[in-house]
Amino acid sequence: MGRLDGKVCVITGAGGGMGREAALRFSREGARVCVADMNEEAGQKSAAEADAETGEAFFFKVDVADPASVQAMYGKTAERYGQIDVLYNNAGIMPEDDASILETEPNSWQRVQDVNTKGVYLCCKFGIPYLLERGGGSVINVASFVALMGAATSQISYTASKGAVLSMSRELAVEFAKEGVRVNALCPGPVETPLLLRLFESDENAAQRRLIHVPMGRMARPEEIVAGALFLASDDSSYVTGTSFLVDGGLTAAYVTPE
Ligand SMILES: NC(=O)c1ccc[n+]([C@@H]2O[C@H](COP(=O)([O-])OP(=O)(O)OC[C@H]3O[C@@H](n4cnc5c(N)ncnc54)[C@H](O)[C@@H]3O)[C@@H](O)[C@H]2O)c1
Repeated sequence: MGRLDGKVCVITGAGGGMGREAALRFSREGARVCVADMNEEAGQKSAAEADAETGEAFFFKVDVADPASVQAMYGKTAERYGQIDVLYNNAGIMPEDDASILETEPNSWQRVQDVNTKGVYLCCKFGIPYLLERGGGSVINVASFVALMGAATSQISYTASKGAVLSMSRELAVEFAKEGVRVNALCPGPVETPLLLRLFESDENAAQRRLIHVPMGRMARPEEIVAGALFLASDDSSYVTGTSFLVDGGLTAAYVTPE
């Protein structure tokens, strides 16, 4: 028996990194999955891999910053599977031109807000009605540890966007708690995914600057974050809502000095 048997999950950003990992794990746990991503090639690949697990996954090309595209994603999923139970709002970007506030131009700031903040807003706005129709469900909004503390290396719009995701999640949790819709902000620490590894390739000290702050002394593997998401998606977390669900290797608990 799988932990997500009978559930239909929509995962955005499922073509890469943690989203891909989630598509595979959720499928193995019995979910029917909409593998949504803007990158068609990567998304198709993830969907084929997830589909091989259960025969119950499909790819949908979505731009989470576009209202019509997000509505179509849910429409297609409901048409195909007849219900939606879990929204895993994972798509997010961390572009290099988002850095210190002194260098970050308004258009770079805005692109990050469009995907990371407005994207989560749209995915909740158009997805929650499907959960209400079912009498409940789980929303997992991916924030970050930077929603809770200032990052050592500034990415001003990204950090602000994750703070917005966290506070939006809390408010939605309160609004829909009595209707059975749980909303949690999943806050990963640094994870070994293309998003962060790309950054490390361009700056050899970037990894070290970050790892010094992590008591465990290493980055998370994508599957360790997805294990947290699986808990939030499943009925095991039936009394968990409105949390800042940290999976961060102890990072936010630490006052660390370099020896
Ligand atoms: N990697 C980390 O260390 C880390 C830490 C904390 C939080 N996060 C968050 O976790 C989430 C996943 O990160 P990741 O590291 O797996 O990223 P990733 O870059 O590996 O994958 C992100 C996916 O999102 C897709 N995407 C980008 N813009 C999109 C859009 N407008 N519409 C639809 N899809 C879009 C990309 O094509 C890609 O497949 C993000 O929200 C990120 O901010 C990551």
